[in-house]
Amino acid sequence: MITILGIESSCDDTSAAVIRDGVILSNVIAGQAVHERYGGVVPELASRAHQQNIIPVVHDALKQAGVLKEEISAVAFTRGPGLLGSLLVGTSFAKGFSSALNIPMIEVNHLQAHVLAHFIKEDKDDLNQPAFPFLCLLVSGGNSQIILVKNYDNMEIIGKTIDDAAGEAFDKCAKVMGLGYPGGPVVDRLAKMGNSDKYIFSKPRLEGYDYSFSGLKTSFLYFLRDELKQDSDFIEKNKNDLCASLQKTIVDILMDKLLKASEDLGIKEVAVAGGVSANSSLRSAFEEYSFKYGWRIHIPKFAYTTDNAAMVAISGYYKYLDNEFANHDVAPYARVLI
Ligand code: KG4
Repeated sequence: MITILGIESSCDDTSAAVIRDGVILSNVIAGQAVHERYGGVVPELASRAHQQNIIPVVHDALKQAGVLKEEISAVAFTRGPGLLGSLLVGTSFAKGFSSALNIPMIEVNHLQAHVLAHFIKEDKDDLNQPAFPFLCLLVSGGNSQIILVKNYDNMEIIGKTIDDAAGEAFDKCAKVMGLGYPGGPVVDRLAKMGNSDKYIFSKPRLEGYDYSFSGLKTSFLYFLRDELKQDSDFIEKNKNDLCASLQKTIVDILMDKLLKASEDLGIKEVAVAGGVSANSSLRSAFEEYSFKYGWRIHIPKFAYTTDNAAMVAISGYYKYLDNEFANHDVAPYARVLI
């Protein structure tokens, strides 16, 4: 029996989870409301909040799992990429936990963990997992990538954003409309009441599988600026249609490249991961493409879309099986690819 404690602290969520033989036993996440009034994550405040949250969160995760700390086989932690101060809290905690219990530590790449979230089993008979090789669209506040997943530890980024991430496009455009932070979920909610064909925004023309969202952000901004000159209530009056049209543009950009990759590589096993995978229109597009192009799709449970430790624990589980352990002098890294 292999029992992994996972720790995630790369950005503004402190999370701990317990996975036993690939099956989820608990996944506790403490968010940080402290950033809301700043319109974005403040790194120094994030690391302080992680320090306050980490022990109670681990305590709750063990309690909910009904597992004693002495039963843990190894502690897996996010080494990067992320905010350095935040990562330091999780890494230091993992070192202390590993030393105190004399168990191994396992370092996990945050981006790979988002992909491997698809392998978390809800119970031991859960067989709903992607087959290798598959394509994974990883879309979050900091990343927009198409990943060719050949195995648990063999992944290749075949497309990535050359500027903003999809989540950033949602958030920045939402901010211009005065919708608060993070704006992605608000845009999603308002878009349900709007007409997605009302406004047309520019789409990038890039070769290959790379993305670009900064042009869309600029065209959205200039469009609003011109309309507001004619009518100062323009945003208020057309909020729902603006959100629906913006969301449709972002989803179309994401899906066009994914379809191209799927057709070029002849891979119909397609997954989505990261915070933006909570978006209802993106989820519908996956279902539509599954019907239209015969894709076998994998959409994560909402709990595994945003940052969480369950995905760190499952990544740690596969590394444990491969005897891939970290040394105690391991340091977090802010930037790294898969
Ligand atoms: O993966 P994630 O939790 O962490 C970071 O990368 O920081 O992703 C957060 C991003 C934010 O940009 C947020 O606006 C976006 O995911 N997001 C959404 C939705 N839920 C979260 N974007 C669009 N629609 C949603 N329903």
